[in-house]
Amino acid sequence: MNKTLTLVVPTYNEKANITPLVEKIAAALSGYEYEVLFVDDNSSDGTAQAIDSLKKDYPVRVIVRRNEKGLASAVVRGFENASHELIVVMDADLQHPPAIIPNLVAAINEGADIVVASRYIPGGGCADWSGLRKLISRGAIFLAQLVLPAARKVKDPMSGFFALKRSVIEGKKLEPIGYKILLETLVLGSYRKVVEVPFQFQLREQGKSKLNLNQEYEYLRHLARLAKRSGEAVRFIKFCLVGGSGVLVNFGLLWLLTEQAGFHYVLSAAIAIETSIITNFLLNNFVTFSDRRASGRKGFFGNMAKFNLVSLGGLLINLAILALLTEVAGFYYMLSNLFGIAGATLWNFFVNNWWTWKGSKPL
Ligand code: GDD
Ligand code: MN
Repeated sequence: MNKTLTLVVPTYNEKANITPLVEKIAAALSGYEYEVLFVDDNSSDGTAQAIDSLKKDYPVRVIVRRNEKGLASAVVRGFENASHELIVVMDADLQHPPAIIPNLVAAINEGADIVVASRYIPGGGCADWSGLRKLISRGAIFLAQLVLPAARKVKDPMSGFFALKRSVIEGKKLEPIGYKILLETLVLGSYRKVVEVPFQFQLREQGKSKLNLNQEYEYLRHLARLAKRSGEAVRFIKFCLVGGSGVLVNFGLLWLLTEQAGFHYVLSAAIAIETSIITNFLLNNFVTFSDRRASGRKGFFGNMAKFNLVSLGGLLINLAILALLTEVAGFYYMLSNLFGIAGATLWNFFVNNWWTWKGSKPL
């Protein structure tokens, strides 16, 4: 069992928490070889000095950044300067109980590449949170999982308490904005096995949270950047282009079957619609979602059936928006239809992304 690790702890004005944190870590890690690497953003309250004064009794180090700011990028700096292969990231404010660290280390030793201390699996939780704060937290997780498939691998991709092997992020260009360093790691790191262990997010007793409204905005910017960098934005563009090709197939066939083959136009339309759904499915299966294609005949036809079902849902959404905007809001029906198509496209993309092509194996 590997019991050698670097703890990376970002700090900003956490002076009062440093000593109790380091003492609790020492109590939790007796028998381990470790260093606590603090990355401080030039705190004005003397955090760095408080850390320095512990050097004679504890294995602590501090890097002071003067020209950069931000929790997640501070952690990246810690990754770059960690002495050991096994790294644990945690907050300084004792909301992450040090007693959990051995559980994280044990799970890495059992073969995981990333271990997340999770609030959202049985045994985990956040003691003092109001209903509203829980809802916001859940909403942020849902949004991440909607846009970034890698975030679906765990129940708590927003946790700031996790362990990883250095190899997960070695050679990766991590450029997180804001707070969510685990999300960045899950999306851009290279790893096989991720596991979660439960923990209770504690009350903050000393100092203040640095979370504010600006962080919510930074979070959305971070999501957009990750969607771009992970290729998910391109996936959406491909999906829209495939949809456009389906419109051409639909119109072309409607004309051909009606004018050239002499079918009744309603029959032509039925054939044209289903054909365009199938060509859309094929293109999406082999282009848009080629990385998550189901294997075998059963997988192929299963996905085709799902895609048809999702398309039916999209059709209903399109019609509902069309009728609602025209009848209730008084829009011109062609304009309403534009919104209908947009709504159906989003539905089709996200439901197919999360359900039809969710992938048989973990990504
Ligand atoms: N270096 C540095 N720079 N550290 C920072 C900065 C910064 O700009 N901002 C915050 N920190 C440090 C704090 O000093 C603390 O040790 C840790 O990062 C967490 O900051 P808090 O302000 O206490 O964050 P929180 O409790 O609201 O959020 C925590 O929980 C969230 C889950 O709800 C963090 O762990 C988040 O990452 C996590 O998503
Ligand atoms: Mn905190």
